[in-house]
Amino acid sequence: MNQFLTGRSFYVFTYGCQMNEHDSERIVGMLEACGAHRTDVFEDSEIVIFMTCCVREAADVRLRGQVNSIKNVPLPRTSELKKRVVCIGGCIGQRDGQQLIDDMHHVDVVFGTQNIERLPYLINGVLSRGGHIAEVQEESDTFSTDLPSKREHDWAAWLPITVGCNNFCTYCIVPYVRGRERSRAIESVVADAQALVAEGVQEITLLGQNVNSYGRDLYGEPRFADVLKGVAATGVPRLRFATSHPKDLTDEVIEAFGTLGNLMPALHLPVQSGSDAILKRMHRSYTVEHYLGLIDKLRAACPDISLSTDIIVGFPGETEEDFQATYDLVEKVGYSQVFTFIYSPREGTPAAKMKDDTPRSVIQERFERLVQMVQDKAYEQNQRFADRTLDVLVEGVSQRNDSIIAGRSPHNAMVHAPIPEGKTIEQLKGTIIPVHVDEAKTWYLSGTVVE
Ligand code: 5AD
Ligand code: SF4
Repeated sequence: MNQFLTGRSFYVFTYGCQMNEHDSERIVGMLEACGAHRTDVFEDSEIVIFMTCCVREAADVRLRGQVNSIKNVPLPRTSELKKRVVCIGGCIGQRDGQQLIDDMHHVDVVFGTQNIERLPYLINGVLSRGGHIAEVQEESDTFSTDLPSKREHDWAAWLPITVGCNNFCTYCIVPYVRGRERSRAIESVVADAQALVAEGVQEITLLGQNVNSYGRDLYGEPRFADVLKGVAATGVPRLRFATSHPKDLTDEVIEAFGTLGNLMPALHLPVQSGSDAILKRMHRSYTVEHYLGLIDKLRAACPDISLSTDIIVGFPGETEEDFQATYDLVEKVGYSQVFTFIYSPREGTPAAKMKDDTPRSVIQERFERLVQMVQDKAYEQNQRFADRTLDVLVEGVSQRNDSIIAGRSPHNAMVHAPIPEGKTIEQLKGTIIPVHVDEAKTWYLSGTVVE
């Protein structure tokens, strides 16, 4: 049925969040099932797929630049096609649809977040009949987890438990491009996890825009804590999850950090702002006091937990006092990592219509002040690992030096260590090995493999 795809080479660009990374793995799985093959060299591809993100404007603008920049790159010499097939999917595809083809005539296929299973058919249609096609769907009743998948790494798997979001934080475009929240049946999630463990997967990351509200749309309303327990019981060596909304983080989930041995001691808990007034305008539905209460409970349940967060600087109407409250919160919590973003108005969201008169230079200065604090705290947090021996899941080699292992500790800290003599990185990749930490830097720990 998709015979025009057989033998074709394709390249995938993935931007944005883990959900996109997971969708890309499904796309690779589907296209390979149709007889096409993935290439790691863009110039060798006959088909290119952009999996896009529109959460902030910078990514949006960059995407158009990138799509335009590949326009004149010739096809591989062996190809008999007239032109490379250019496909845009993900969140920008969902939002802009046909407009992308109208604006960039070399784009052939546009698809969205709700119909990735249609991609092989759409490409096949273009290869057989020519022309352009944009196909975007409002809501889907399938889950991408039903599609074939080709994991980026053998040892690590994303496992979506919900898709979409019902929270409508006022700055965020996600609910408009990923649709309403839907949960997968707990039995399917656990069955998938069992299959992954049987394949030798070392680390499963449960995914959802807000995993904590899992199950509200299902019969019997199973809770996220039940999913955690079910997946942990498969015996997967490492279990993680993302992302967690503070308003829905339950005591049961917090306690799981103390009781489930394979739930890794690391939690990403986006706070967004340390000012109650801003949190209210963001429609986050919690106060700073509530958030700090959660942090206390988490540290009581699991004293060694590493915390990370997301923060938006320059939300409309942010005063110096509001910013100072955010700065103080970051200092108080002591995060291992903070993803800091300058507020970016997204058309169609409520915040885009809010009065915003803080000068750009003031926001930039606040941002830089915050980043400095983030770094100081990350360094401080990492010191607790100095001289400890940690289990490290080897991911590959360091970007700068291919004789240095790069891997992750249970706390999700990056760990570097020289490859031991007589071993190769291929032997070590995907295995968990003990590393003694000799020195703790701001963004990584440097150590020696314990043999
Ligand atoms: N501007 C800046 N940052 C944003 N985020 C989401 N929407 C926006 C926006 N409009 C950030 C939030 C979220 C992270 C994934 O991206 O901090 O947690
Ligand atoms: Fe966006 Fe808020 Fe949903 Fe996260 S919880 S995806 S920030 S609307």
